[in-house]
Amino acid sequence: MFRRVVHSLLFLSTAVAVSIDACPGYNASNVVSTSSRLTADLNLAGDACNLYSRDAHYLKLLVEMQTDSRLHVKIYDEVLEVYQIPSSFLEVPSGGNSTQDSSDLSFSYTSYPFSFSVQRKSTGDTIFNSSGSNLVFESQYVRLRTQLPDDPYIYGLGEDSDRFRRETKNYTRTLWNMGNPGLPNHENLYGSHPFYLEMRNGQAHGVFLWNSNGMDIKIDQDTNGQYLEYNINGGVLDFYFVSGPQPADVSRQYANIIGTPTAQSYWTYGFHQCRYGYQDVMEVAEVVYNYSIAGIPLETMWTDIDYMDLRRTWTLDPDRFPLEKMQELVTYLHDHQQQYILMVDPPVSLNDSASWENAVQLDVLMKNSSGETFVGGMWPGPVGYVDWFHPNAQSFWSGQIASFFDDDNGVGVDGVWIDMNEPANFCAPCSNPYSETAPTPPDVRTSWEPLPGFPADFQPPSSSFTEKRDAQGNSTGLPGRDLDNPPYKIQAKYGTLWGWTVWPSAPNYGGYEQYDIHNLYASGMISHTRKGLLDRRPDERPFIISRSTFSGDGAQSGHWTGDNDSKWSHYLLSIVQHQEFASIFQMPMVGSDVCGFNQDTHVNLCARWAMLGAWYPFYRNHNANNAVAQEFYLWPLVTEAAKKAISTRFALLDYFYTAFYQQTVDGSPSTIIPLFFQYPNDTNTLDISYQFFYGPSILVSPVTIEDATNVTIYLPEDTFYDYWSGQRIIGNGTNITLTDIGHTDIPVHIRGGSILPLRTDADTVNTTAALRNKNFTLLIAPDNSGRAAGYLHLDDGKSLNSTSSDINFSYENGSLALGGTFGYSTDLQVISAKVLGDGSGATFNLTKSLNKPWVVNI
Ligand SMILES: *[C@@H]1O[C@H](CO)[C@@H](O)[C@H](O)[C@H]1NC(C)=O
Ligand SMILES: *[C@@H]1O[C@H](CO)[C@@H](O)[C@H](O)[C@H]1NC(C)=O
Ligand SMILES: *[C@@H]1O[C@H](CO)[C@@H](O)[C@H](O)[C@H]1NC(C)=O
Ligand SMILES: *[C@@H]1O[C@H](CO)[C@@H](O)[C@H](O)[C@H]1NC(C)=O
Ligand SMILES: *[C@@H]1O[C@H](CO)[C@@H](O)[C@H](O)[C@H]1NC(C)=O
Ligand SMILES: *[C@@H]1O[C@H](CO)[C@@H](O)[C@H](O)[C@H]1NC(C)=O
Ligand SMILES: *[C@@H]1O[C@H](CO)[C@@H](O)[C@H](O)[C@H]1NC(C)=O
Ligand SMILES: *[C@@H]1O[C@H](CO)[C@@H](O)[C@H](O)[C@H]1NC(C)=O
Ligand SMILES: *[C@@H]1O[C@H](CO)[C@@H](O)[C@H](O)[C@H]1NC(C)=O
Ligand SMILES: *[C@@H]1O[C@H](CO)[C@@H](O)[C@H](O)[C@H]1NC(C)=O
Ligand SMILES: *[C@@H]1O[C@H](CO)[C@@H](O)[C@H](O)[C@H]1NC(C)=O
Repeated sequence: MFRRVVHSLLFLSTAVAVSIDACPGYNASNVVSTSSRLTADLNLAGDACNLYSRDAHYLKLLVEMQTDSRLHVKIYDEVLEVYQIPSSFLEVPSGGNSTQDSSDLSFSYTSYPFSFSVQRKSTGDTIFNSSGSNLVFESQYVRLRTQLPDDPYIYGLGEDSDRFRRETKNYTRTLWNMGNPGLPNHENLYGSHPFYLEMRNGQAHGVFLWNSNGMDIKIDQDTNGQYLEYNINGGVLDFYFVSGPQPADVSRQYANIIGTPTAQSYWTYGFHQCRYGYQDVMEVAEVVYNYSIAGIPLETMWTDIDYMDLRRTWTLDPDRFPLEKMQELVTYLHDHQQQYILMVDPPVSLNDSASWENAVQLDVLMKNSSGETFVGGMWPGPVGYVDWFHPNAQSFWSGQIASFFDDDNGVGVDGVWIDMNEPANFCAPCSNPYSETAPTPPDVRTSWEPLPGFPADFQPPSSSFTEKRDAQGNSTGLPGRDLDNPPYKIQAKYGTLWGWTVWPSAPNYGGYEQYDIHNLYASGMISHTRKGLLDRRPDERPFIISRSTFSGDGAQSGHWTGDNDSKWSHYLLSIVQHQEFASIFQMPMVGSDVCGFNQDTHVNLCARWAMLGAWYPFYRNHNANNAVAQEFYLWPLVTEAAKKAISTRFALLDYFYTAFYQQTVDGSPSTIIPLFFQYPNDTNTLDISYQFFYGPSILVSPVTIEDATNVTIYLPEDTFYDYWSGQRIIGNGTNITLTDIGHTDIPVHIRGGSILPLRTDADTVNTTAALRNKNFTLLIAPDNSGRAAGYLHLDDGKSLNSTSSDINFSYENGSLALGGTFGYSTDLQVISAKVLGDGSGATFNLTKSLNKPWVVNI
């Protein structure tokens, strides 16, 4: 057999084509196929076109039948120089034990020009087919296109602010993490999740591209029909195809690749308050106090960058947020079973000598291409950026966390909020980062009204690319690329890769370039923060909310959707974003700023948003410094809405905690669930964006028209019960209009067949800690055959290794049974049960244990 000797000409420059469609593609040879695996050589099938950089001459194909529902297809360079996401970042599955016979997915290919397709045998569907155009694999541009049915139903490929179902014409999703306030449509936003789910004839499949480079994913039609096309700035093609066939199967199969979501503490589901622009620690205390006297249960107070001394992370403003007062605030909150959270930004300020010297000494700051510390601009002025690939990064970051958040000598926070981690760089472009200045801090208050319950003195003091490497490469990235200005320009905001972030040419430890790993920057910050929090409180589930994210980060962190606006369209957008993050991207601890962040909110919008926010996994009111104040207690209408919303959320908190837990076990979408996940055969559900399931049993249908008091909702063919009245409604697959929905109301329906374990007297408690002492009542909502079932996961609500009980309830013909496993012992009881729809609506009193099985007739 012919054996190539000219390896040194991997990426060879010859001719330049005029059009990408004139590129020659590849020729498959040396195909070796076993029952579970196929490999081949892919050789450039003609003259290089070198359109956006240089064509790779020699590629490898690897196909693995990994499981009966997952197929792995990888196309990569023979000498392993092209960047691949390092396994130290996340170990994605390799190998596998399925076979071409047993797998529901089959792989077929054409040798010349090379193309491949993936079929699902059980339905005969071709779910991916690249034959419509040639593969292009250049040093800074990779293109692969798949043909699709006309007007496909595609979901995912976020983070985005577009409609839930992807547009199918002239549509581009750009993935390049970007701080993008106002969340503009059709632009790249904070995170990148190159995964999509497609629905066809009631069946779902998923396609995941494991690639962190900047990319445009284009969905459009041309004379050859409908397609989806990846246009990537580099890296390899590393695809995982999953076969469903139910949407929930696709979610679980994706979780099997990238990891299941991390468990969260019980208290994190309480109501959170934050604002950018609280002037000092006294104002923060006033807000805590005002919530308390308004009778709105505030679970956790947050502080934005205001606490920092001249905006430098790891410092406290000595005049406005002095350590002693911060500690008094934390003590007050903890004494009242409330929590406190601070924001942390990734960069280290050049003007914060302690942290800077520490970082320099450990050598953990990113360098520029000349080997000096990369200096950019951020809130505090000139900053350096932690290089998360550096082996010392963890000890630096854990050390910062351990000392600054020390429970005795620092600020004893209960979680960390990480921001600006795209990462943001205000000096991009700018000529001199050292000239970046910090904003002027607000005035120091001179007088202050004492707050009952706070300490009396709680006030401030006055004060070469074409050469073959001899050694096998390590996939850290090709040399010789134009990293700052690649010839193929993805449609990133500001038109460049370096707009508003660290230069793509900044090298990271181990030979990695920012160009390749930009989209992983937040992931590095998340994993190092999580480890730092675990070092500090080893038994406690770390609570992290991150702005920027990448595939897999849900296993360590939650997400808020960034700087939205106080406007109706962003109230609606939040519903779409939560369905995407919770059910598709496996990041279910997600929330949007309630009442909106930028711009002035108003009373009706804030009331509606307070009602909607109670059905977010992460429920936080957050506001910009230059907008009107929007704490819930500021308007009587919003106060009333918030009290009702929170007491309803509290009654249902264990139902939701249990559902969230289920997603942490196997990735089953259990938190914020799109309608079509529940009714995949009902095509009417495919375009529904603004109704959703909160857990498997509760359908939430918020008002969708501003200032309206009606909403037209869709009810699939199923039995439902109005949550508020208990009235049964038989869904028949049509729209119905609900009227008279005041601003303190939100339509909620229970799906027939459900048993909801509710906390009793949820409206009498003001923290989740108090809620955990309440007994349970069971709300039974039978399906049309008179049966119902439900679940309850009980544990200590905070430990990583708590004992637990996994309890199931079932009901049929007046017989109510409890079973399960009982590892978590509790004195709490089931003290009543109510069966909806039986006409009487009677409540049955019980005194039943949660520590052992029982059956009772009611
Ligand atoms: C294949 O591997 C998976 C995961 O390792 C395992 O659960 C399964 O039992 C294996 N199947 C066979 C047929 O060996
Ligand atoms: C496609 O979208 C771009 C950007 O939104 C727009 O400028 C262009 O006019 C659109 N083209 C067509 C054919 O609609
Ligand atoms: C909650 O209510 C209890 C009992 O009324 C009270 O002692 C406590 O201070 C309240 N806590 C908060 C945070 O308002
Ligand atoms: C990978 O190879 C490059 C080039 O030889 C080298 O600079 C880098 O240090 C290597 N990285 C690792 C992690 O071995
Ligand atoms: C959808 O329809 C298919 C085929 O009729 C059936 O096998 C499947 O169980 C249905 N799915 C659901 C969720 O009802
Ligand atoms: C719903 O409210 C909107 C806005 O107030 C109004 O235009 C519309 O007529 C109402 N629809 C129904 C069916 O009441
Ligand atoms: C569907 O149900 C609605 C509300 O109960 C009812 O008004 C409507 O007539 C029903 N439509 C059909 C086709 O049964
Ligand atoms: C329900 O109403 C929406 C919005 O008006 C419409 O797009 C949809 O087709 C309707 N669905 C049905 C089943 O009539
Ligand atoms: C729970 O219910 C049992 C039985 O009615 C009662 O004895 C107990 O006091 C209740 N516990 C709480 C915390 O209300
Ligand atoms: C959890 O594990 C830690 C050590 O890993 C141990 O100290 C602690 O007691 C455990 N807690 C529970 C509830 O098992
Ligand atoms: C159930 O208990 C409640 C409160 O303890 C009581 O008011 C009610 O009369 C009881 N109902 C029955 C049917 O015993």
